[in-house]
Amino acid sequence: MKIISPSLLSADFRHIAEDIRKVESAGADRLHLDIMDGNFVPSITFGPLIINAINNCTHCHLETHLMIQNPSKSFDQYIKAGSDTLIFHIEASNNPKEELSYIRENNVASGIALNPNTDEKCLLPLLDYLDYILIMSVVPGKGGQSFIKSTLKKMENIVQMTKGRNITIGVDGGVNLDTISKVYDTGIDIAIVGSALFKSDNITQRYQDLINA
Ligand code: DX5
Ligand code: ZN
Repeated sequence: MKIISPSLLSADFRHIAEDIRKVESAGADRLHLDIMDGNFVPSITFGPLIINAINNCTHCHLETHLMIQNPSKSFDQYIKAGSDTLIFHIEASNNPKEELSYIRENNVASGIALNPNTDEKCLLPLLDYLDYILIMSVVPGKGGQSFIKSTLKKMENIVQMTKGRNITIGVDGGVNLDTISKVYDTGIDIAIVGSALFKSDNITQRYQDLINA
């Protein structure tokens, strides 16, 4: 089944509840929340307060993508705000096994994100601790960037690596009408889509077009 997780980074925060309703009515049952700290990545976005507000206006599964330095310091806040999956970057982590275990102990799905240049072999010792792998197909930091084609091979490798395990694989960055079918063809589970969805004049129709692409 093809799953889209809309990235709210490109939604219109003047009426975020309305944009959420549009993607829900199109069929979305999860949302992707991009947290940037101005340190791990140059931009700053939003934090737990906004996630809590979003949690109060949707029944969607909330996947929180932490693009922050020292992520474990903030885990409690993001869990309390209503994250259902909590994803941190391997490049920012001090002790990934311990940090993934902590997330699970709090009944939240544990996730690792991988930058385009990070070798997927770093995941091998972590497979028993992981519920979710987020493969970055752009350098994290902003929406609307071009898809990096060389990450398709990494997707295939990670699909093989996780065969027979209950690990969800998401792909994040530059997914649009031109790239989404190539992404799904690798066998991954979830395509994260930001600008290609929310910058459309008809968000509901675009969601369908992306599913059918
Ligand atoms: C990039 C973020 C993405 C971003 C994707 O740093 O992690 O989730 O919102 O946006 P698009 O789909 O526009 O590339
Ligand atoms: Zn993201």
